[in-house]
Amino acid sequence: MKKGIIFDLDGVIVDTAKYHYLAWKKLANQLGFEFTKNQNELFKGVSRKVCLEILLEIGKVSATKEQFDIWMIEKNLDYLKYIENMDASEILPDVPKILQFLKENKIPIALGSASKNARSILEKVGLLPYFDAIVDGNNVTKAKPDPEVFLLAAKQLGVSAHDCVVFEDAVAGVEAANAAKMISIGIGDRNVLSEAQFNFKDFTEISIQFIEVLIKN
Ligand code: BG6
Ligand code: MG
Repeated sequence: MKKGIIFDLDGVIVDTAKYHYLAWKKLANQLGFEFTKNQNELFKGVSRKVCLEILLEIGKVSATKEQFDIWMIEKNLDYLKYIENMDASEILPDVPKILQFLKENKIPIALGSASKNARSILEKVGLLPYFDAIVDGNNVTKAKPDPEVFLLAAKQLGVSAHDCVVFEDAVAGVEAANAAKMISIGIGDRNVLSEAQFNFKDFTEISIQFIEVLIKN
């Protein structure tokens, strides 16, 4: 059985959650309310549109469709400024080691991200060549926890869903992987990601032996 490995981007490959936070906070402050780091946890793995809906709910702000669209654009322009100068130094520890091992063993690798900026971030940090398929916010109609993003990634890799392994840092992402009947691996706080089949704080905790077992079974 051919195995496939699917990586989420934000919070798994790079720590971009901090830039998303700064951009949302700026918009919240502009609208006259605070947005805390704790509240930002709700935004992980969630599409830009749903994030803005939650933000406006937090601030009890209502918006016309036109205003809503303008704020989405403003937030993204601000986020793009933060990621403009991103480079390989922002790749999370040991991610390249795992990618390299998978490549050497000819295991197909996909990205399964909610972000519409995913491809450009992979390009900036120099990891694009590792990926055999990229499914991101531009290709899906249903956001995580819907399994669409991961099912599409498996299809593009030519691997059955139950032979795929997903690395995720968001609750919605772990739920999506489980719904797709894939092996879910939570990266981050195990109490938060308790629905994942395996949990690790980060990739430095994951041994090559563990990856070997994953791709053989
Ligand atoms: C996810 C992030 O990967 O992408 C979310 O975890 C973010 O916080 C979402 O909202 C959409 O990203 P973008 O880049 O399309 O605004
Ligand atoms: Mg993520």
